[in-house]
Amino acid sequence: MTAQPASALVPILAQHIKGKTILVLGASPNSLGARFLEAIKPAEPGLVILGLRNETKAKEVASTLSPIPTRTFPVDFASFANVRTAAQQVLAMDDQIDVLVNNIGTMASPYYKTEDGFESQLQLNHLSFFLFTNLIMDKLIASNTRIVNITSEGYSLGGIRYHDWNFHDGEAYNPFLGYGQGKTGQILFASALAAKLGKKGILAYSVQPGHTRGTNLHSSWGPYTIEQLVGEMRRNGHAGAWNVPEPKSADENLANFVLAAFDPALERDNGAYIRDSKVIPLDDMEPWAVDERQQRKCWEFSERLVGQTFTYE
Ligand SMILES: NC(=O)c1ccc[n+]([C@@H]2O[C@H](COP(=O)([O-])OP(=O)(O)OC[C@H]3O[C@@H](n4cnc5c(N)ncnc54)[C@H](OP(=O)(O)O)[C@@H]3O)[C@@H](O)[C@H]2O)c1
Repeated sequence: MTAQPASALVPILAQHIKGKTILVLGASPNSLGARFLEAIKPAEPGLVILGLRNETKAKEVASTLSPIPTRTFPVDFASFANVRTAAQQVLAMDDQIDVLVNNIGTMASPYYKTEDGFESQLQLNHLSFFLFTNLIMDKLIASNTRIVNITSEGYSLGGIRYHDWNFHDGEAYNPFLGYGQGKTGQILFASALAAKLGKKGILAYSVQPGHTRGTNLHSSWGPYTIEQLVGEMRRNGHAGAWNVPEPKSADENLANFVLAAFDPALERDNGAYIRDSKVIPLDDMEPWAVDERQQRKCWEFSERLVGQTFTYE
């Protein structure tokens, strides 16, 4: 892979995009999900399926993609019951799904619990993806889907708190550790999917898009400052905190989405974490996000919290 912006990659990968059905969860106007779809539009995907909690936003994004055909379905990740209904709707669609982009996310929100009783970032950034993706797995296996979990380098803020995921009911809450917890879940979920289902044709990646301005992520961000974020990273010994990179353009950062979704050269790296248009070597990652034991722990933990087991032979 070479580091080229999305606008340069899309013509190169056009033959792998044309005619494909792409399902994106969380492609609100201005979000990275919507910009990814705009970026690939010139290569003419066959169908875009939009899972959004807000119907007006879904219609707005669908109209920008015209003449590419679109379908929409409602989904609110703060409710497992709602996620289950959404999964049923997708299963009822006739279309195969070539690419699933798991893009919904919130960052460093003030503490609150979802209707299912979980710290919101854990559910919105990981548990609901785990549930939704596994519920539609028969369709994904039948489609040889590429699954793209949008995560964040913020995973390095902290791993999964297997014994206190709700931060002692909020008393011990740290919004950045909450972000790290959910985003670590998405990295381990992608590598576990590759390990469990690679032989059935599933490709799964986790992607750090890169710091991108102009999205709506700040609307979930609490009353915190970048200095607090950097301070937390420093306390955590994260090398990046001493040299925080400038944001890159959306075009540069969306290259990570495009490569994970379409680059055939990545097939040999099933399960990888992608950042800066590169596969990140496991040795360069935090230990809580890499090994098979962590994958297994995270899978079983997620099953327990969503209340359903998912076993693949
Ligand atoms: N932007 C960056 O610099 C950056 C850096 C690293 C990682 N990321 C990751 O990239 C992904 C996209 O972020 P973004 O910057 O594009 O932010 P964004 O514009 O806020 O997009 C987030 C999406 O998540 C949806 N969402 C939030 N809560 C939801 C819920 N309860 N149910 C269903 N959907 C919900 C939003 O829908 P609504 O419009 O209805 O709220 C929106 O479609 C996130 O996973 C984020 O963590 C972003």
